[in-house]
Amino acid sequence: MFQHHARIERNSILLLVLTLVVVSIGGLVQILPLFFLESTIEKVEGIRPYTPLELVGRNIYIREGCYNCHSQQIRPFRDEAERYGHYSLAAESMYDHPFQWGSKRTGPDLARVGNRYSDDWHIAHLTNPRSVVPDSIMPSYPWLATTVIDGSDLAEHLRTLRVVGVPYTDDAIANATADFVAQANPDGTAPGLLARYPKANVRNFSGDVGKVTELTALIAYLQVLGTMVNFSTFDEHANQR
Ligand code: HEC
Repeated sequence: MFQHHARIERNSILLLVLTLVVVSIGGLVQILPLFFLESTIEKVEGIRPYTPLELVGRNIYIREGCYNCHSQQIRPFRDEAERYGHYSLAAESMYDHPFQWGSKRTGPDLARVGNRYSDDWHIAHLTNPRSVVPDSIMPSYPWLATTVIDGSDLAEHLRTLRVVGVPYTDDAIANATADFVAQANPDGTAPGLLARYPKANVRNFSGDVGKVTELTALIAYLQVLGTMVNFSTFDEHANQR
């Protein structure tokens, strides 16, 4: 036995190959089951796919590179939970393609920024952060308020996300553009939208009249972040029993 081992020790290529074999067995044992276990991502009540308007806002968030300065993942440490709220659940980003966890926090984590500020605060902050936080170093995004979106390609967008597993129904795809307009309508009731996306915020997020701007979409997205799960009734250990 030990004679053989001496051979391995003297032959660096053989040692390397055998090390890789051993390490990959260990890796497979740890990683493979995660692909088959139902509980890898626990289903959590309240999590729904983004509405078309929120989705457009999310695309703007990605386009503008907000993730370069903001993470969207509250880690399970006391200091994080005290500052930002309940730590992020895997289910909260299960419909994110790509996810926005991020690793850089020049600004605060945004995973639970929804409902923390008023729409008016976001309008002022995104147009010029210094108007509400005097020594902010965040860039201004004044063009968001003047760039109108028509949302005509949203059905395709939803259909594409369905290919990667987001459960948009045929109904949601057929109504994508209508839902996009309905969610930002100041006096709309949007019953169809609320049936498809329970508890969605329906309001005129940025004061647009007769049009939907990028600012509206981005605020709709920011206001839903971290608000889908009701943590006063959420039971962390439900799936482990
Ligand atoms: C250069 C880095 C940087 C970029 C890029 C950036 N931010 Fe910020 N952001 C900050 C900093 C720093 C703060 C804290 C000061 C403040 O509130 O302005 C902040 C604060 C915020 C807040 C308030 C968070 C809180 O809990 O108080 C929101 C919301 C926000 N940013 C959204 C965005 C969005 C949306 C984008 C992209 C359109 C963006 N940020 C891009 C640096 C950045």
